[in-house]
Amino acid sequence: PRHLVSIDDVSIEEMHALFAQADRFAASPRTFADTCPGFISASLFYEPSTRTRLSFESAMLRLGGGVLTAAEMTSSSVVKGESLADTIRVVGGGYADVIVLRHPSEGAARLAAEFAPVPVINAGDGSLEHPTQTLCDLYNLHVERGRIEGLDVVLAGDLKYSRTVHSFAFALARFGANIVCVPQPGFELPEYLVERLHEEFGVEPIRADARRLGDLAANSDAVYLTPQKPHQLSLFTDARGWEVQQVDAVYMTRPQTERYSGNEMSATQYLRLEKRAMAAESLRDAVVMHPLPRRDEISADVDADPRSIYFKQAARGVPIRMAILGWLLGRIDLGVERPAPMPA
Ligand code: CP
Repeated sequence: PRHLVSIDDVSIEEMHALFAQADRFAASPRTFADTCPGFISASLFYEPSTRTRLSFESAMLRLGGGVLTAAEMTSSSVVKGESLADTIRVVGGGYADVIVLRHPSEGAARLAAEFAPVPVINAGDGSLEHPTQTLCDLYNLHVERGRIEGLDVVLAGDLKYSRTVHSFAFALARFGANIVCVPQPGFELPEYLVERLHEEFGVEPIRADARRLGDLAANSDAVYLTPQKPHQLSLFTDARGWEVQQVDAVYMTRPQTERYSGNEMSATQYLRLEKRAMAAESLRDAVVMHPLPRRDEISADVDADPRSIYFKQAARGVPIRMAILGWLLGRIDLGVERPAPMPA
């Protein structure tokens, strides 16, 4: 079966086709119940979730399928010591036609895919990846901006532990978008990811003078990661003199405190997006995104700003996940040839 473990598992052509399909679902969500009748998805969540789990279950129900969901995996046989591999074999061996898995261990979804006779969808594995959140985020850029190629996107907050950011940064680079990292101090993008961006896209991290991002970047050493030609940078002047005026999106992230050790917690200086920061000229036309849940890294008085799209962003999780489920279950033909496997 075809799995969705990493954002690398989906080609750019497939992503565009998924967005087009999601557009159709979003326009008329109650009219596609004949897409997956008789199909069942299983939600196996070893970590809490509101959006990913409920939007997947809503998506499956809207497609005419059914859902199996354990309230918490702690109420399953995991507490008796059953391995993930055994659980996957059992659930995929007749109970469900697709497995949506969230797990605290990095690589858990890849392992599950090795044992599953049905598609496995990674709904977040530790700090590693959250590919369907990235497809949702990219879909939001597609809807709000009409394109992803060449956009200037600020990634702000905890860039070290946010699996959402890790999948998103890589996908943005593949689309040829420009990334401006504005990390909370000490929580920069992991080195392995920066190296991959360098190896695959020739991206060079460049220290940036981010003063024009105003309050948002006041405490941060901003860095550009751009796979694009310098003239497409559009925010602030950097060490090479590239002149930038506007950003297209600001993507805030929550401090992933559940993954911090004690020392990291005390060293953390949270970045916050407050109403006054929205007055920065460089953010004039930017949409503000957040995968949610948030704590206080976006203050509540930003919610009413028309540039704040994070609740729309969460709502769009349903049509894009309808497209993902229909595709992996073989009920939607994306019309894209699957690339030939790489020679061993
Ligand atoms: N964005 C996201 O993954 O939210 P949940 O943890 O609620 O699923």
